Amino acid sequence: MKSASRAHELSPEEQAIYRSLNPERMPAHIAIIMDGNGRWAGRRSLKRFLGHQQGAEAVQYVVETSSRIDLPWLTLYAFSLENNLKRPKTEVNFLMRLLRSYLINNVQRMNDNNVRIAYIGRTHELPAEVQEQMQQAAEATARNTGTVLTLALNYGARSEIIDAFAALSRERAAQGRNAEGITEKDLHRHLYTAHMPDPDLVIRTSGEMRISNFLLWQIAYSEIFVTERFWPDFRGIHLLEAIAEYQQRERRYGGLKAHTDEEIPEHAVLVPR
Ligand code: FPP
Repeated sequence: MKSASRAHELSPEEQAIYRSLNPERMPAHIAIIMDGNGRWAGRRSLKRFLGHQQGAEAVQYVVETSSRIDLPWLTLYAFSLENNLKRPKTEVNFLMRLLRSYLINNVQRMNDNNVRIAYIGRTHELPAEVQEQMQQAAEATARNTGTVLTLALNYGARSEIIDAFAALSRERAAQGRNAEGITEKDLHRHLYTAHMPDPDLVIRTSGEMRISNFLLWQIAYSEIFVTERFWPDFRGIHLLEAIAEYQQRERRYGGLKAHTDEEIPEHAVLVPR
């Protein structure tokens, strides 16, 4: 059953943008690279962990706006494989504690907002107490039918493709088949995101023009929106602004907008100098 629209719960400023959007062109899946927690803290002469703490607050604001506009899929890059390997142990430990407390403290609000939580990444490598809380939150929200909030945790897109390829190889070996005739669909079936549509829109905060090993396969045709705003300052209204910008884009998937079948003369291959 489709839930009644909760757009009236948006703030007046959010509603003003929301009303200007084309309901026919709403994205089904938004993926966000949440960046700039450290710089947000640095600008305020605060320690980095306080930036992450504010970043976790921002997560909840954005999740709730997503649920109010009935966004089906929201995927957040919360902790990369590279973060895990390259950041100081103290910061990694803090991020793990923050994640755990986010899950403990927000399950009720997720349920109030009909949000289901899910995860992608090599989550089996995370600390046991974090995995336990992840599972509890997933179970507690499993029956919700609104926005699916997917946290990418200990996630790397190249590793995801390797994991998919390994699973596909095992599947084919069990069937006595070799790699002959493998299709995109075959690999796609084994991605962590096999059950989701590809992101329509990728948002990156804090101005960096990079993808940072996020959903490399899935974003082949996604629109990309980069804002200078640091993640801890990102709110629902900024999500709506990104959607408004997305609606201005023309998505062609390698094709042409209008079918322009122009006449091309035989000799028109190379212009002689
Ligand atoms: C980038 O900031 C952000 C991260 C490394 C992780 C994202 C984590 C959060 C938003 C908080 C916790 C999340 C949840 C779901 C509870 P950065 O440290 O790379 O910032 P910088 O580039 O300015 O140093």
